[in-house]
Amino acid sequence: MNILAELRQRFLEALEPLVDDPGRLLEMILPVQDPRFGDYQANCAMPLGKERGCPPRDVASEIVERLKVEDLCEPVEIAGPGFINLRLRDDWLIEQVNQLVHDQRLGVDGVDDPDTVVIDYSSPNVAKPMHVGHIRSTVIGDALARILRFLGHQVIADNHLGDWGTQFGMIIYGYKHFVDSDRFESDTVNELSRLYRLVNDLVEYHQAVAGIDRQLEEIREREEKLEQQQLRVDEASQDEKKKQSSQLRRQQTQLEDARDRLAGARKKIDAVDEDQALATLAAEHPGVAEAVLGETARLHEGDSECRQLWEQFLPACRAEIDKIYQRLDIQFDVEHGESFYHSQLEPVVEELLANGLARMSEQAVCVFGEKYDTPMIIRKKDGAFLYATTDLATIQYRVATWQPDTLLYVVDHRQGEHFEKLFDAARRWNCPDLEMRHVSFGTVLGDDGRPFKTRSGEVVGLESLLDGAVARALEVVSENDQAKPGGAELGEQEREHIASVVGHAAIKYADLAHNRTSDYVFSYDKMMALEGNTATYMQYSYARVQSIFRRGEVDVDGLRSSFAGILLQHPAERHLALGLLQFSEALDQVLEDYRPNQLTNYLFDVAKRFSTFFQECPVLRAEDEAVRLSRLLLCDVTARVIGQGLELLGIGVVDRM
Ligand code: ARG
Repeated sequence: MNILAELRQRFLEALEPLVDDPGRLLEMILPVQDPRFGDYQANCAMPLGKERGCPPRDVASEIVERLKVEDLCEPVEIAGPGFINLRLRDDWLIEQVNQLVHDQRLGVDGVDDPDTVVIDYSSPNVAKPMHVGHIRSTVIGDALARILRFLGHQVIADNHLGDWGTQFGMIIYGYKHFVDSDRFESDTVNELSRLYRLVNDLVEYHQAVAGIDRQLEEIREREEKLEQQQLRVDEASQDEKKKQSSQLRRQQTQLEDARDRLAGARKKIDAVDEDQALATLAAEHPGVAEAVLGETARLHEGDSECRQLWEQFLPACRAEIDKIYQRLDIQFDVEHGESFYHSQLEPVVEELLANGLARMSEQAVCVFGEKYDTPMIIRKKDGAFLYATTDLATIQYRVATWQPDTLLYVVDHRQGEHFEKLFDAARRWNCPDLEMRHVSFGTVLGDDGRPFKTRSGEVVGLESLLDGAVARALEVVSENDQAKPGGAELGEQEREHIASVVGHAAIKYADLAHNRTSDYVFSYDKMMALEGNTATYMQYSYARVQSIFRRGEVDVDGLRSSFAGILLQHPAERHLALGLLQFSEALDQVLEDYRPNQLTNYLFDVAKRFSTFFQECPVLRAEDEAVRLSRLLLCDVTARVIGQGLELLGIGVVDRM
C-alpha cells in the first residue's frame, strides 16, 4: 500500500466536485516531518482560497467535509490559515505494518500499466581504462534499472559501448608502431592500454604544441576584456553595478579557465619534453594525430588489416571492463556497442536527406533544429559519420526492436546539448511520442574542488579506486571489530569479505546519495563514516538487527510465522512503523525525476528512526513477551526494508561488521 497515493486518491474524490482540474493540487499533499502536525499535510486550500478570493480556512472546511478518510485517519484538523493535517489512526497503522511482516514486497505494489524502458548507461569507450567518471553513469543507471524492474516495468539495460571510435585508431596505430610483442602475448590488456596512453600522449602533445599560440592570444584578449569590464564596474551607476559585477565575475572565471587550459597544455608538453624517450618518439611521429584518424577511417571502411586487429583487441578490452562490472555487480541485457550500428549509418543519413530533415551545409550533412544555432552534423565533409549518427541509428533500432515507451540516457551533463539535438531530431524523424530523457549528472571532484585526479595529474583509474576503498574498508572493519566490548569477533577471512562488501558499497552509495545533478567531492573518509548518510551506516544498522537476533537466539522464520504481532505503544515505535510503510513512496519519488538519492534519503531516515527506537525501546529486555516479540518484528521489518532498499541500489549487506 502506498499511503500517499491512497490519500491523494481520496483528496481527488473530494476535490472533483469543487474544482475543474483537481489533479494539479494533489502534489500539495505530502508527508510531514514534525509529528505535531500529524503524519501528512495538505496545503491545497491556500492556492484555492486565493483563486476564489475567499478565506482558505473556509475552503479547507469545504474539502474536509467531502473528504472520506475515516477508515485510515483520525478526525481531520484544520490548522493555521488552512492547513489540513492528517494523522493516521493507530489501529490502521498497526494493521498495515503487520502486513509488511508477511509481505515479500514490503508494501510496494507493482504498477498496473508497466512501461518498456531502455536505459543506456555506463557505455564506456572500451579501449581506454575505465576511470572515476564512469562510476556515476554505471551506478545511477544500474540503480534505476533495478528500481524500475522492482516496480514491474520492462527494462532493457543497454551498455552502449564506445567500441568503434578514434580510440581504436589510436591502438591500431600504436600496435603498428610501438607494440612489445611479448607483452602483447602475455598481458594483452595492459599492453593495449599502454599503447593507448602512449599514442594519446603523443597526439595530445602535438595538439598542445600546435595550440599554444592561439591559447596565449585568447588569454591576452580575455585579460583586455576583463580590464575594460573592470572600468565598466567602476563607472557603473548603483542600479547597473550588480549586473556589471556579475558580468565581471563571469569573465574572471572564463579567464581562469583559459589559464588552466594553458597550464594543462604546458604540463603535457613538459611531460614529453622531460622524458627523452618520449620526446624522441614525438619528434619521429609529427603526423600522429592525422594518422590516427586515418586508421580509424580505414577501420570504418572495412580495411581488412584494421578490422582484424580490431577483432583481436576487442575481447581483451571488454574483458577488462567486465572485471569492473563483476566487482560492482552490474549486469546488462544488451551490449551492442557503437560498432553494431555501423552498417546503418549510411542508410540513416540517406533517409534523413531524402525526407528533408537533413541537408548539406559546407559539404557536411547537417540536421538543423530551432533551439541551437549550430546544427547536428551527421556526416562530415570527409565522409566520416559521427557520434550523433550512431545515436540516431541506435534509436531507430531500439524503437524497432522493443517498442519502448521511454529511453533513458544516463550520461555526463556535458553532453546535454548533444542529447537535446538528438531528441529533437529523433522526434521529428520517426518517434514523436517516445519519451526520451537525458538523465544527466555532475562531476566527481577532488579535495581541491577540481575534477578528481591523482597527484601527478592523471585521471584516476576505476580499478585502483575500488582497491583503495576496499583497503580503507578493511581498516574501518578491523578497528570497529577490535573495539567491540567483548573483544574482536571476526577472523581474517571474514574481515576481508566484509571489507569487500563495505568498500564497494561505500563508493556506490556516496555517488547515489548525492543529488545527481550536482558535483561532489570524493572522500574515502566521508563515505565510510560509521555515522551519517553512508552505506556503512546503513549496513551497520542492518547488521545491528542481525546481532540482536543472534544475542536473543531468535528464530526469525518462527517469529514471522508466529501469532505475534507488532504493537505500537511507544512514539518511537509508531514513528519507525510509519517510516517503514513509506518505502513505496520513496521509490515513486525516485522515478519522478530519476533521482536515486530519494531512496538513499529515505533509507537514512529509516535508519535514524530505527536508532531512536533502539535507544528508547529495549528489545530483548522488553517489559513483557508480547512487547519483546513486537519489537523483534519491527527490527526484522526494518532490516528487510534496509536490505531491500540497498539491493535496489546495487548494494549488499553483511550479518556482522
Ligand atoms: N561512450 C560515450 C562516452 O564515453 C557515452 C555514450 C552514451 N550513450 C549514448 N548513447 N550516446 O562519452
